[in-house]
Amino acid sequence: MRVLVTGGSGRLGRSVVAVLAERGHDVTSVDIAPGPQIPGVRGVVADLLDERARAGVFADARPEGVVHLAGIAVPFARPDLETLDVNTRLAWAVLTDAVACGARAAVAASSPTVFGYNTPSWRPRYLPLDEEHPVAPWHAYGLSKLIIEETVRAVARTSGDCVLSVVRPGYVIAPEEWAGAPTQQGHTVAERLADPELAAGSLFNYIDARDAAELFALVVEHPERVANGQVLHAVAEDPLAARPLDELLPRFHPTTAEAAGALADGRAAFSSEAARRALGWRPRRTWRSELRQNAQGGISGADS
Ligand SMILES: NC(=O)c1ccc[n+]([C@@H]2O[C@H](COP(=O)([O-])OP(=O)(O)OC[C@H]3O[C@@H](n4cnc5c(N)ncnc54)[C@H](O)[C@@H]3O)[C@@H](O)[C@H]2O)c1
Repeated sequence: MRVLVTGGSGRLGRSVVAVLAERGHDVTSVDIAPGPQIPGVRGVVADLLDERARAGVFADARPEGVVHLAGIAVPFARPDLETLDVNTRLAWAVLTDAVACGARAAVAASSPTVFGYNTPSWRPRYLPLDEEHPVAPWHAYGLSKLIIEETVRAVARTSGDCVLSVVRPGYVIAPEEWAGAPTQQGHTVAERLADPELAAGSLFNYIDARDAAELFALVVEHPERVANGQVLHAVAEDPLAARPLDELLPRFHPTTAEAAGALADGRAAFSSEAARRALGWRPRRTWRSELRQNAQGGISGADS
């Protein structure tokens, strides 16, 4: 099918574009920044907040599926008003255009930060966090993601045959980052494991970019298996931590102590069970498998 990926040059977008192309789709990748050349993928450089440019992109790509990743992707990376403005306007523009151009499926990237953890008073009702757990964002990025989720639900109310959904990827680790490239916070995966304080702020969640990409692909390939407006987690089944979370979470977030008892035996703080039930998706890569593989001889082809 014809699939348009916004933000296709980004950390997650590069894997989404590559995975969709591998699965035989006709992929257009649009980004304000140029991306790597991927065989069979049409790369378009455009600012999706520019109405005329965006109209041209949709007219040329005629997408049947849209994966919306473009935006400001890191909390506090830009001034708060800019983060709110860019992320929320992009979502409305891209998702309404997706419906208007006749796409059958459109999915937007949200974030686990909508839960609002990493404040002194945040207390989970239960762990692991699933898609039913209440949200309570506290920074502009998390709020922009919750508004994106609400935008998906709003557009879904009149989207006709187009199924809109949300994926909340965990802390994305791109293939080259397993091999030692810095992650989005500037330190390496090995440093994040060695110093639990670095990963505590995200409750030790993570996901391999290619695994997350597979879920985005499944959602556009099988809209009939997804409820209109549905939210799905894409988070690894184990934490990015060398010690179990029933031990680590109470140390860094005392208010989680009671609920963290459920996370013995190496369980993660987030559940992606809904994606498994709806689409048969499970993450295939863990930090243990990827670090071992890289130690044994380098990565065998980024984004493969
Ligand atoms: N990286 C993570 O850990 C993570 C976790 C959860 C959710 N997400 C979400 O996933 C998505 C992708 O994240 P990422 O890590 O790949 O981020 P990224 O910053 O690497 O990629 C985002 C891309 O969007 C592009 N972009 C921004 N404004 C644009 C515009 N006006 N027009 C066209 N392109 C524009 C950027 O150039 C960039 O390439 C984002 O929505 C992010 O919020 C990321």
